[in-house]
Amino acid sequence: MSTVALIPAAGRGERLGAGLPKAFVDLAGHSMLHHAVRGVQASGVVDAVVLSVPIDLVDQVRSQFSEVIVVAGGAERSDSVRAALSAAPPSDVVLVHDAARALTPQTLFVDVVAAVMAGAPAVVPGLPVVDTIKSVDPAGTVTGTVDRGPLRAVQTPQGFDSAMLSAAYAALAHSADGAQFTDDAGLVEAQGIPVRIIPGDPMAFKITTPWDLQLATWLLHERTR
Ligand code: C5P
Repeated sequence: MSTVALIPAAGRGERLGAGLPKAFVDLAGHSMLHHAVRGVQASGVVDAVVLSVPIDLVDQVRSQFSEVIVVAGGAERSDSVRAALSAAPPSDVVLVHDAARALTPQTLFVDVVAAVMAGAPAVVPGLPVVDTIKSVDPAGTVTGTVDRGPLRAVQTPQGFDSAMLSAAYAALAHSADGAQFTDDAGLVEAQGIPVRIIPGDPMAFKITTPWDLQLATWLLHERTR
């Protein structure tokens, strides 16, 4: 069975405030995208990689990564995933992995692919939520405390049966606005497909804020010490 990994890397990264698209921000001497691509390739379970990047960076990234397919992303994350999916070679399994989860351990790719190959149509790594979660109204007054027991904070790589994911994206094209889906499992859930959660990994955290970038830099230095 073959596996393709799609890496959406076309986000603007405004919350990071680095003045350039997040995936291209330096992380211990290389871009986040470089770390993410090398992590996927080192897992040994992926046959082809497709990147979606900001349109003005397509040529630069193509010259940087000769062994991957590079396409222009879109305004929403789901547009970027759709563009990568359209350019992907045929496969049995599709992984979708955020470039921003640059330190994801190889074992997580292996576990997600194994679960899809074992028959689950959609597989997502997730961690229990440790904070107490409150809902609030627009004025900032707490309206309730959510039971965190059944909650999971989900990560990537998310793994899918290829034909099922393509069908879910085709259905999205004819219906709702893709902006509402912040991950691919959400899109698949909306089609009524069961999504399985497997244990996530703290190292697969998403680099979103300057604090996350500092943490990732420190972790990489510790790893290579
Ligand atoms: O914005 P967020 O942190 O949820 O983005 C997750 C991933 O999706 C990042 O790797 C980002 O580059 C990518 N993305 C994209 N196209 C967009 C928005 C986000 O490829 N329009």
